[in-house]
Amino acid sequence: MSTFRNDDDTLRAGAEEVLKERRRLGLEGLVGGLEAVSIRVEPGDLVPAAREFLERTGHALADAFDQAGERCCLLRLPGSADVILRAGPLRDNPFRSYNYGPKSGHLPDTRLETFIFRCGDVRRYAAIQKERGVAFLTPEPLETSAFLFIQTRPSAYTGNSIGLVQWKGTPGRYRGDGCADLDLPLEKPDKAHLKDILELDHTATRVHARDRDPAILEFMGLTGYHFDFAVHVESLNSITNVARMPGGGFAMVFTSGIEPYSEDGSSGPTEQYIHNYGRRVHHMAFHCRDIRPVFSALKADGMEFLSELVGSPGEGLRQTFSRPSKRTLLVNEYIERYDGFDGFFTKSNVTLLTKATENQ
Ligand SMILES: [Fe+2]
Repeated sequence: MSTFRNDDDTLRAGAEEVLKERRRLGLEGLVGGLEAVSIRVEPGDLVPAAREFLERTGHALADAFDQAGERCCLLRLPGSADVILRAGPLRDNPFRSYNYGPKSGHLPDTRLETFIFRCGDVRRYAAIQKERGVAFLTPEPLETSAFLFIQTRPSAYTGNSIGLVQWKGTPGRYRGDGCADLDLPLEKPDKAHLKDILELDHTATRVHARDRDPAILEFMGLTGYHFDFAVHVESLNSITNVARMPGGGFAMVFTSGIEPYSEDGSSGPTEQYIHNYGRRVHHMAFHCRDIRPVFSALKADGMEFLSELVGSPGEGLRQTFSRPSKRTLLVNEYIERYDGFDGFFTKSNVTLLTKATENQ
């Protein structure tokens, strides 16, 4: 019988300490907003995965290149973080041990791996973080004619990496030196509803109950984010925890159990999901302008969903979850907010939606 139970007061006290440390070390203000998320797929899945984004989001193909055998697609929508899809032969994948689960083992390299944030001075950032004991994938920042870049080793709590990019010239040029053009059979469909699917609003990473506080505190120590609030749903053993930048923009959501996994089937969908897929990003949420016709059109196009639309203007939002992609394992959330509502769900929505993910 476990006695561990998450407590928001403990988390808030830890978050205060991280903010103090950030200020003391000169990290505050060094890291900006989210520039891109980097998703790795299996070598045969690059084009189908890119096609899914073109057909199911507002993002369009902005660039495609080959970087020493690794093929990359850059998907872009003005006003949103970019999506970078990667595939290619890997000698040693530092994420692989996090990717395994009974339902994900057939895609051993597939994962939303890295959240890439703008940084004013990557060298100074790396030096300060190394002093704090943070481990990076390269000993020093990678420098090209377009940018400086460094990324952390995958987090032991989330399996996610944090990347920092400092643009030298035009922001958003991810091509390194010596990249070759890649000609891919991809086209953005000319469909009206895709223009109503807007920016990446948030992602939700599923973590074990015991890892909730360390995952959030680690993320705060690496970025400019604050812990904002948490919503507990006792009946599903679920907490939705929200971290944000002071000015708004992309929100980082962590979903965890209140109590740890138990064999008796009472763990709830979050612990069950990690048991099946490993700790990882569960969904990417896209803000919509008019979600009802968007939802109908996506369904008419053959997209499958875990739930109908839930919520209403009176409750502040409407949203739904797709079935997970067979290429990326990611669920798409579509979300429309009314009257400037800046939450992520109503209490009834989070219950319905969390419940719906039991079906995946
Ligand atoms: Fe969400």
